[in-house]
Amino acid sequence: MIKVEGLTKRYARTVAVDNISFEVEKGQIVGFLGPNGAGKTTTMRVLTCFLPPTAGTASVAGFDVQEHPIEVKRRIGYLPESPPVYPEMEVTEYLEFTGKLKGIPSADIKKRVDEVLGRCAIGDVRDKLIGKLSKGYRQRVGLAQAIIHNPDVLILDEPTSGLDPKQIIEIRELLKSLAGNHTIILSTHILSEVEHSCERVIIISQGKLVAIDSVANLTNRLRGSESVALEVEAAAGSPNPSDVQVRLEQVAGVRSVVMKDSKDGRLTFEVESLQGRQIRADLARSVVNAGWNLSELRPVGLSLEDVFLQLTAAEKKGEAPAESEAAKQ
Ligand SMILES: Nc1ncnc2c1ncn2[C@@H]1O[C@H](COP(=O)(O)OP(=O)(O)OP(=O)(O)O)[C@@H](O)[C@H]1O
Ligand SMILES: [Mg+2]
Repeated sequence: MIKVEGLTKRYARTVAVDNISFEVEKGQIVGFLGPNGAGKTTTMRVLTCFLPPTAGTASVAGFDVQEHPIEVKRRIGYLPESPPVYPEMEVTEYLEFTGKLKGIPSADIKKRVDEVLGRCAIGDVRDKLIGKLSKGYRQRVGLAQAIIHNPDVLILDEPTSGLDPKQIIEIRELLKSLAGNHTIILSTHILSEVEHSCERVIIISQGKLVAIDSVANLTNRLRGSESVALEVEAAAGSPNPSDVQVRLEQVAGVRSVVMKDSKDGRLTFEVESLQGRQIRADLARSVVNAGWNLSELRPVGLSLEDVFLQLTAAEKKGEAPAESEAAKQ
């Protein structure tokens, strides 16, 4: 449904997107991840015909973004990073306006607007001026305009940014209900969101493709090593931090030990395991056997940044990146 080949986008001297290729099949929801400035928005703007590529091609439903932009736009709903909503318009007025622009017949517009008001849970602000809405509501109005013409493809640039937890769950449900009939690419910084909503993940970093994989494969891979926060009580300077550090380093399966803090009689460490090793029980035993008080031991979740560090580090060492389909081709 979406095909990107050798896509490169340069802004003056900045290479925002550097020769990336990927495909998204019909009906899939794909998460697009990357740190700030990775090139996600730029890629999305090329796919939605807002920016021409510097090199390479991108097509949607077989239509090239440069050769057939009108056909592409007809099939795409786009939620930009900052939704292009008009502050001086009322919500329904704006949605009717965008619906008309997107070619919905006049006779159907009211019904369609009512549908998207319901789906995006914005019925209660339908008569409000957009400029007076809170950020989360404005975001949902942006989402409503993206789906109003029932496009085959949805390109959503951080659709849940600025939403409260309840709304995030609602949007997640909405996206799930749209999947199957719709192909969706959504960018986000929240890894758990991708785990909930997406079947596949595309990760880019500094404009380059780092991984394309299923969520299950990626998270398994990342869960291969364990990261544990550990806290030992230290009364009157005992135990000595370096003694604890050395002892933890000696536990089987430990890759690294970093002391994070030492205050109020507590020493905190972050311990990382080698790939595939479970270390919590052995760490606990080691501390207790030394006669120290273990006041906390908990797994530390992997943040998106950790994911990147792991993936880019793997690339540098010449290990295979996460099952990259682009690399296979
Ligand atoms: N209009 C522009 N002119 C010049 N450089 C730009 C422009 N837009 C983006 N860039 C640069 O291109 C790179 C990629 O930016 P992009 O907005 O695509 O990143 P992103 O992955 O969407 O980041 P974020 O997570 O912060 O939204 C950055 O280095 C950015 O500074
Ligand atoms: Mg962006």
